[in-house]
Amino acid sequence: MTSTKKAIITGASSGIGRALAVVLSNDGYALGLMARRVHLLEALRSELRQPAWIMPSDFENPDQARQDFRQLCAQMGTVDLVVLNAGANHRSADLSWEHDQKMLQVNVASFVALAHEAMRIFLKQGAGHLTGISSIAGVRGSGHVPVYGATKAFLFSYLDGLRQRVQAECPQISVTDVRPGFVDTQMIRAAAFKFWVASPQKAAVQIAAAIRKKKKRVYVTRRWVVAAFFFRYLPDWLYDRCYRIIFKKKTGVDRA
Ligand SMILES: NC(=O)c1ccc[n+]([C@@H]2O[C@H](COP(=O)([O-])OP(=O)(O)OC[C@H]3O[C@@H](n4cnc5c(N)ncnc54)[C@H](OP(=O)(O)O)[C@@H]3O)[C@@H](O)[C@H]2O)c1
Repeated sequence: MTSTKKAIITGASSGIGRALAVVLSNDGYALGLMARRVHLLEALRSELRQPAWIMPSDFENPDQARQDFRQLCAQMGTVDLVVLNAGANHRSADLSWEHDQKMLQVNVASFVALAHEAMRIFLKQGAGHLTGISSIAGVRGSGHVPVYGATKAFLFSYLDGLRQRVQAECPQISVTDVRPGFVDTQMIRAAAFKFWVASPQKAAVQIAAAIRKKKKRVYVTRRWVVAAFFFRYLPDWLYDRCYRIIFKKKTGVDRA
C-alpha cells in the first residue's frame, strides 16, 4: 500500500499513543513520533507498516517542544493529522508545586504551543485535522487529581474555541476532542479507584474511528458519555460525600 497521508502523534512511546500509532499505520499513515523515550519509539517504528520519523522531545520545556515539532514537520514535508496525546499525571499527596508545574507544562503549555504550530501549517495548506486527548477527568474537579483534572478541563474549552476560530477562516480544518475514561496504561496503574477499564488497543480503534468521522468530541469508550453526564449533574453534597468515602478508604483518615 502506498502511504499518502501523514500524521504526528505525541506521547507515542507507550499506552494510548503507541496503540494509536499501530492503528493509524495500518490505515496507511506515515507517522511522526514524539516522546522522550527514544528506544521505545524505535521499537515501535520497527513494528509499523508505514515509514516513521522519530523526534525526541521533552514537553516540560514548551519552547523546545515547539522547535522539535517544527523540525519534525520540516522533515516530514506535509502533515494531514496531528494527535496531541502526550500527557502527565503526577499524583502527589502533598500538593507539590514541582509536580504540578510539570503537569501544566506538558498538558497545557506544550499542548497549546504545538496546537498553534499545527494550525499555522493547516491554515497554509487549507486543510488538516487536529486531535487532542483530554480526559473524563476534565468534566468535574476531583480531589484525587485537582491539577490534572483542571488541565483537561482547559483542553475542553481550548479545543472548542480553537475549532470555532480556525473554521471561520478555513472550514476544511477539523478539531476533535477525545475524552477517554480509564484506559489500562502506566498512567492509571497506581489509581486506587477505577472501573470500565479499556485496553489501549480498544481505545485506539475508537479514537481512529472518531478521527475518520471528523467528530468534534468523543468519549472513549462510548459508555463514558453516561458517566460524564452523571459526574456533571450529581449534586455537590453527594459528589463530595463519594470523594470522602474513597479518601477514607485510601488513607484511613476520616475528614468528613
Ligand atoms: N490511561 C487513562 O486512563 C487515561 C484516561 C484519560 C486520559 N488519558 C490521557 O491519555 C494520554 C495518554 O496517556 P496514557 O494513558 O497512554 O499514559 P502513558 O502510557 O503514561 O503515556 C503518556 C505518554 O506521554 C508522554 N509524555 C509524558 N510526559 C512527557 C514529557 N515531559 N515530554 C514528552 N512526552 C511526555 C510519554 O512519553 P515519554 O515518557 O517517553 O516521554 C508517553 O508516551 C494522556 O494525555 C492522558 O492524560 C489517559
